[in-house]
Amino acid sequence: MKKIAVFTSGGDAPGMNACIRAVVRTGLHYDLEVLGIRRGYAGMIDGEIIPMDSRSVSNIIQKGGTILQSARSISFKTPEGRRQAFENLSKAGIEGVVAIGGDGTFTGADIFCSEYPEIAFVGVPGTIDNDLYGTDYTIGYDTAINTAMEAIDKVKDTADAHNRLFFVEVMGRDAGFIAMYSGIATGAEAILIPESKTDINKLVDSLHNNFKRKKTSSIVIVAEGDEEGGAIEIAKKVNERFDKYDTRVTVLGHVQRGGSPTCMERVRASRLGMEAVKALLNGQTRIMVGLIHKDIAYTPFQKAIKQNRSIDPTLAHLAEVLSS
Ligand code: F6P
Repeated sequence: MKKIAVFTSGGDAPGMNACIRAVVRTGLHYDLEVLGIRRGYAGMIDGEIIPMDSRSVSNIIQKGGTILQSARSISFKTPEGRRQAFENLSKAGIEGVVAIGGDGTFTGADIFCSEYPEIAFVGVPGTIDNDLYGTDYTIGYDTAINTAMEAIDKVKDTADAHNRLFFVEVMGRDAGFIAMYSGIATGAEAILIPESKTDINKLVDSLHNNFKRKKTSSIVIVAEGDEEGGAIEIAKKVNERFDKYDTRVTVLGHVQRGGSPTCMERVRASRLGMEAVKALLNGQTRIMVGLIHKDIAYTPFQKAIKQNRSIDPTLAHLAEVLSS
């Protein structure tokens, strides 16, 4: 293999830049030519392919976002779009691609590889949601939970000052990892996640108990993908049955996607980037490089996207016991 490319796709995540840097510099270390594809699959289709050298990734390890930018491409879901992408990659002489993204990115890569097996694809898990099977960690997650934690700490200050009940919505379309970790770390009174059924009556009972036990304020963390709705909807449902506290809702939103990556994030993203290039050099394709128990693990795209990653049930118990 002589020429590889790297791109970021789907929701951006802090640490993606550290990973791009690692891919570029590892590639150069092994005498490969490295190219960058801008704007994910959209840029692949539009031919936005640029040369990358060591200096092009200087001073980016500490930056959030992605210097290559990202997109969620509709056209890549069509055979015509993928054909155009294949033609552009072939024209540029690209033999292997490192795809940094989440399940949508790997779904696209897997279909592309089934149609055009001559170009190898290795994935690196990049999403703040931490919801990919085959890795304990996805790039962006550590920074996102720390961002959420800091914001919730601040909400707690004001909640306490006014004896209020706050519903704080965190990201996680299909996964409650951000909610669970930021909730435990901030001592939230309840954590609602898509992986387990939310019982509004039970939530009301527990908030009532807290009130009777003279809790001055309460925080309920809601993962945006909870089946009972987002924080606004859940607050409304609770308020219809329980009105002892003055209630407010805070939606943290995209603030969780930005910011400078944590130290852990930078190190893990660098490691995954290097291993992705090595995997390409070893002839691997249609796999995601992940970290399981600190070791590098390779998981076929099919498995990484189709198998659900569950949240350790002891965490819910921990949160419940400690928030009493
Ligand atoms: O996949 C990461 C994520 O941040 C989810 O948590 C969230 O639901 C989604 O992306 C938001 O996507 P967009 O920025 O396209 O609205």
